[in-house]
Amino acid sequence: MLTGAGVSAESGIPTFRGKEGYWTVGAREYHPQELATHQAFERMPWEVWAWYLYRRGVCRQAEPNAGHRALVRLGEALPERFVLVTQNVDGLHARAGSLDRHVKAIHGDIQQMRCARACVPDRVAIPDAVPALAKGEPVSDEVKALLVCGRCGGMARPHVLWFDESYDEERYHVETVRRLAAEAALVVVAGTSAQTNLPWQVVTLGQRAGATIVDLNLEDNPFGEIAKNSGGVIRGPAAAALTAIVDRLLVG
Ligand code: OAD
Repeated sequence: MLTGAGVSAESGIPTFRGKEGYWTVGAREYHPQELATHQAFERMPWEVWAWYLYRRGVCRQAEPNAGHRALVRLGEALPERFVLVTQNVDGLHARAGSLDRHVKAIHGDIQQMRCARACVPDRVAIPDAVPALAKGEPVSDEVKALLVCGRCGGMARPHVLWFDESYDEERYHVETVRRLAAEAALVVVAGTSAQTNLPWQVVTLGQRAGATIVDLNLEDNPFGEIAKNSGGVIRGPAAAALTAIVDRLLVG
């Protein structure tokens, strides 16, 4: 299973490339692809942090939906054969009840942070005392003092993969995910626009290994082109479609 932002859309979390994804800093509107970069963090760390703390608040408010819950049932039914590769950093698969050993969060977790200088690889939960920020609200000095590395005291950064960074095994499970994709019999892709690298590898490695590919999305997308000639496409909201797919798989 490969999920993207569309799976959390019905929980009220704006998708990454949808029109609600833009963010204003000063007089300028930034596209998420410009802000979710190491380069932006170097240039304006507290503006980038403000964006993440706003989005972290949205994710904390959100509740898992029927699609997340359907995937919990699938994991319970196929404990040794199910893997859930997610691009979502919102943590809703885990909050719905999917097991740690099933969920591979390949873009990180918006509730966590780590040392910006990587003095230690460990990531920790962003402290509870760090509040959700409103849109446009700056990070206060009190909050800045909480967003620091526990070891070196330097600035912490969100534990997410940025566009100008590479996947690795330690933080983003890249080798594990590649290996599992090459062993898959069925790859169901849900709610992603197919713009990132590792998801492409999941689908193409699976395809090469003879897996059936199914694409579930509101709209056509490049994975749909692959799925059309394989297991097929489903065009509709993810929550109902995932529930239907899981019901069907568990009966069959
Ligand atoms: P996008 O925002 O690019 O795409 C969301 C997809 O979900 C689109 O194809 C929509 O058509 C579809 N969609 C929206 N609502 C849906 C619904 N209710 N049911 C089904 N489909 C729906 O999000 P991603 O593809 O997940 O990484 O973006 C991939 C990554 O780009 C993100 O994880 C982000 C960025 O790099 C990081 O921030 C690390």
